[in-house]
Amino acid sequence: NPSNFQMGENSMLEQAECRAKGGAPGFKVAILGAAGGIGQSLAMLMKMNPLVSVLHLYDVVNAHGVTADISHMDTGAVVRGFLGQPQLEDALVGMDLVVIPAGVPRKPGMTRDDLFKINAGIVRTLCEGIAKCCPNAIVNLISNPVNSTVPIAAEVFKKAGTYDPKRLLGVTMLDVVRANTFVAEVLGLDPREVSVPVVGGHAGVTILPLLSQVKPPCSFTSEECEYLTKRIQDGGTEVVQAKAGAGSATLSMAYAAVKFADACLRGLRGDANIVECAFVASQVTELPFFATRVRLGRTGAEEIFQLGPMNEYERAGLVEAKKELIASIEKGASFISK
Ligand code: NAD
Ligand code: LMR
Repeated sequence: NPSNFQMGENSMLEQAECRAKGGAPGFKVAILGAAGGIGQSLAMLMKMNPLVSVLHLYDVVNAHGVTADISHMDTGAVVRGFLGQPQLEDALVGMDLVVIPAGVPRKPGMTRDDLFKINAGIVRTLCEGIAKCCPNAIVNLISNPVNSTVPIAAEVFKKAGTYDPKRLLGVTMLDVVRANTFVAEVLGLDPREVSVPVVGGHAGVTILPLLSQVKPPCSFTSEECEYLTKRIQDGGTEVVQAKAGAGSATLSMAYAAVKFADACLRGLRGDANIVECAFVASQVTELPFFATRVRLGRTGAEEIFQLGPMNEYERAGLVEAKKELIASIEKGASFISK
């Protein structure tokens, strides 16, 4: 066997890839926007995930720098970097899961919808690549405004003839992560013991925590309900304001994205009862997309759960959420169809 220094970079990668494949089932994961605030931490955490055998890091800037850095971590996944549009297709071929945190973040005073102008086009281009190169991959879409970018992705896939609603998931996990944290604080519990369903969408009033369904079962005063609902809905803005122009949530988002991606991979592996909240094509309400608890399996979101019993406060919140959500969904869908 040639020693490492005599071996070309490619054959070393191939050997490492074979080693990575030798053990437990490994999945191929691509991160699009991997050099960004979310992307870098997400790439690091995915490199630590034993379910990942190959990790492709794509960005329009600094992809090779991030790749060189992360590739030195002594974990199983083989890491490869891809820079710029000409390398997008190579980044995507053969992927099982594609996670998309590409796009611009908010600054103070902006809504997520203010990002539409730039991020809609970015998401369209990336999804065209997915339709062409890995049409069967599960897609985790993080880029904002999620309430519109998911319908954009759906329309791109429909146009390409590759759309499978089960495989397209808008990531709302950060809302759940925040809800678990804030509710645990109020209850004086360990956040790891708390589970809060958050439904609707991912912007302002469309973020609807179902505090009446918190596990372990508990009750809140109406003041606590108001405080918690508002804090969960405004969690993103809280971070945007604290960062004061330097972007939005990146570290907690990378944590949430990996938690969600890991659930998708366990579903793909065939684990039973993997249930998380996500923004998906849905018939739970009259809207074409809605975030609810979904069961993740070998083919993506295999089961979509109903909203369950809601109290009056939550039912009123649902009416408000749907009003805003339908406009954002239509805006996304018409970006592609017109
Ligand atoms: P960032 O600016 O730090 O990183 C974005 C990255 O995307 C950059 O590296 C940039 O080069 C890359 N990029 C831009 N155009 C691209 C293209 N065409 N192809 C590939 N990569 C491209 O931003 P961030 O803080 O990482 O946030 C990224 C996105 O995630 C924003 O839209 C933000 O609003 C969103 N976000 C969503 C959630 C959520 O809960 N879903 C949470 C936080 C942030
Ligand atoms: C969040 O919820 O933190 C993200 O959607 C980013 C933002 O703009 O608030």
